[in-house]
Amino acid sequence: MTRPRSTNKLILFLAASAAALLAAYLFWSFAADVKALLEHRMGASPSPSADTIVRIVKLFFVGIIGYLFVRALNSLFFGLAFKLKRIDAPTLIRNIFTIVAFTILFLIAFTFLFPGQNLGALFTTSAIFGVILGLALQDTLGNFFAGISLQADRPFQVGDVITVGAQRHTGVVEEISWRAIKIRTFQNHVVLIANSNAAKEPIEVCPRDNLNARLVFFNTLYTDSPAKTIHVTREAVRETDNVSDKITPIVRIKNLGDNGVDYEVKYWLIDYAKYNDTDALIRQRIWYAFRRAGLNFAFPTRTLYVERPSRMGQRDGDGGAVVERLSAVDIFAPLSADETSMLAQAAVRHVFAPGETVIRAGDPGSSMFVVHKGRVRVQVSENGRPRTVATLNEGDFFGEMALFTGEPRTANVLALEETEVLEIGHAAMKRVFDTNPDLVESLSFIMAERRQGLASQTDDSAANTHSSAGILSAIKRFFGI
Ligand code: CMP
Repeated sequence: MTRPRSTNKLILFLAASAAALLAAYLFWSFAADVKALLEHRMGASPSPSADTIVRIVKLFFVGIIGYLFVRALNSLFFGLAFKLKRIDAPTLIRNIFTIVAFTILFLIAFTFLFPGQNLGALFTTSAIFGVILGLALQDTLGNFFAGISLQADRPFQVGDVITVGAQRHTGVVEEISWRAIKIRTFQNHVVLIANSNAAKEPIEVCPRDNLNARLVFFNTLYTDSPAKTIHVTREAVRETDNVSDKITPIVRIKNLGDNGVDYEVKYWLIDYAKYNDTDALIRQRIWYAFRRAGLNFAFPTRTLYVERPSRMGQRDGDGGAVVERLSAVDIFAPLSADETSMLAQAAVRHVFAPGETVIRAGDPGSSMFVVHKGRVRVQVSENGRPRTVATLNEGDFFGEMALFTGEPRTANVLALEETEVLEIGHAAMKRVFDTNPDLVESLSFIMAERRQGLASQTDDSAANTHSSAGILSAIKRFFGI
């Protein structure tokens, strides 16, 4: 069974006190004999030197007992203050208390044992003593005053994580004494930094009661979507232990690197002292999240692409999906399988990031779009403010108004999430219209409806002037049908 450290310390203290008291008692009892022995050795009786030696030894014992007494007083006083008022005095204050109390006791003992001596004069008149003392105490006093300024300034406290100096000693502050700052590194080593050195060096402080941030880096292949990567990573990091839920982690592209897209994750910790473990856990979580989401880390590679001419409706190796998407669009329902394949082959795929503009109001436009994946928002500007007219999902189309009438774009279209659209140009549509003239009619109905939605509630006339019959003839004129 192991005893607690405080009990061990108490036993040691009691043993040292008992030994010191016993030694002092014995010396006091035999002081006269020791003096007589010394006088006998020196050949003079009475001898002032023998008397001084005995007094010095007595002073030495009194000093030891005084020191032990001050230590006991210190523990009692500050221990009581902590118990009663929950005040944990800094080590430096305890040290100052010890030094002052001990000096007072020592001076009392000195005047008692050497009544004729003036201690002040002894210190001030002895130049050599002064030089020796000054040189010896140079560093000690430097540390002492630097320690006092650290206590007064309180740039950091016990429990904070600090990084000191050019050597970047990093660890948790365990103690600030009159001589040094004691930090425990993350390898569980203790580093002591002299106060006077710390006062000269830059110190990076991560306070314990502060939300401190960390950065973790990773990369992905260029083929992996940034929007998906950012979403997957953010969710993985959010759920990791010791990541604060007060601020959402930030995932962003740091660089477009040689081997892939470089990202950084910025997250805030609950307990900063555990940042190594948390960084590691985050990397682990990202790895698993990537596995599930089909994302890939990048590593130095050289990829050789061999491009083969694609067959009708099988563009980008995913042509089947494009044909399927177009045949599910209402207005293309009357088209034959060959016509839909032709349209699919003519369609060009584009990917937009969340928030990106696909179409800008007022721009000229000669193509229409089908939402293949994702969602878009149609917006118009009303009194300088954006008004959402519609939200279009997978299988919906937009951009037909400018394409079929030759007029500028009537609204802004923004991607709401990562969105893939299929762009169909004027030539491909004309071919479709040539073989399916009925299509023009159904399109003109949809366009008339959309125009009504575009017009503001107060502006009814605008809607009426764009009736489906008017649009129909405009399309026919434009396409020369
Ligand atoms: P275009 O004018 O070429 O560019 C903006 C597009 O927004 C427009 O074609 C339509 O396709 C689309 N749009 C405009 N108004 C609406 C609406 N009310 N509902 C759905 N889509 C619309």
